[in-house]
Amino acid sequence: MATVTFLPTGKCATAASGTKILAAALRNGVDIRYGCSACQCGTCGISITNAPRVSPMGEDERALLTRLGLSTEGSVRLACQCRVLEDDVTVDLSFQQTYSP
Ligand code: FES
Repeated sequence: MATVTFLPTGKCATAASGTKILAAALRNGVDIRYGCSACQCGTCGISITNAPRVSPMGEDERALLTRLGLSTEGSVRLACQCRVLEDDVTVDLSFQQTYSP
């Protein structure tokens, strides 16, 4: 189990290893922007501010982030693709206001 902390509110969600960050947010009533839930639209971009270890980025996610002009070095992820592992994660949702998919 990991704790996901969503900034700027500081709301926390407990998630089993393998849970997508989008699912953790929705299950806990976190206001998060998203659309397709399937790595197609790019609306669910998030900034991960503290995550020693999350699931690796897949090629589809990397390609969509590149198309959107967003970083692919790991601090920006798609909430519908990125899964928590065992480590606690801090996510900044204010990042969603900084770009247009
Ligand atoms: S919700 Fe569409 S890419 Fe994540």
